[in-house]
Amino acid sequence: MKLIIINGPNLNLLGKREPEVYGNKTFEDYFADLQFRYKDVQLEYFQSNIEGELIGKIQEVGFSYDGIVLNAAAYTHTSVGIGDAIKAVTTPVVEVHISNTHKREEFRHVSYISPVAKGVILGFGLQSYDLAIQSFLK
Ligand code: DQA
Repeated sequence: MKLIIINGPNLNLLGKREPEVYGNKTFEDYFADLQFRYKDVQLEYFQSNIEGELIGKIQEVGFSYDGIVLNAAAYTHTSVGIGDAIKAVTTPVVEVHISNTHKREEFRHVSYISPVAKGVILGFGLQSYDLAIQSFLK
C-alpha cells in the first residue's frame, strides 16, 4: 500500500503557527510517529506553499499510488486547479483538515476539494491524518 500525504501552504510552520488552532507539534515529528505506527504502509510526505507544485505532485502520483491524503490548506477554499487535478487522476483523495473549518470564518466553509474527494476528515487535530490513513486500510 503506497500512500502520500500532501500538505499545502503554511503547514510547514506547524508547531509555530497559531498553536491554539493547530497545536504544538511539527509535522515532521508527527510524520515520524505515523511512519512508526504504519510500518507496512509505504508512506510519503510532500509539502509546498506553491499551488502549481501541489498540482504537479497530484499529477505525478495520481495514477500509481493507492491513496492521497490532502490538506490543501488555504488553497482548499480557492483552487479550481487543485480540484481539477483531483478529478483528472485515478488515485482516490481524502481531504483532511486539522481544524474544524465549519466552526471558523465563512470563507473556510467553501471547499473546491470536497466535491471531488473520496471523503473528508476534519477537526480532529493532527489525528485527522491518522484517520485518513485508516480509511485507506479499511
Ligand atoms: C486548514 C484549514 C484552512 O482553512 C487553513 O487555511 C489552513 C489549515 C486545517 O488544516 O485546519 O491552512 O487546512
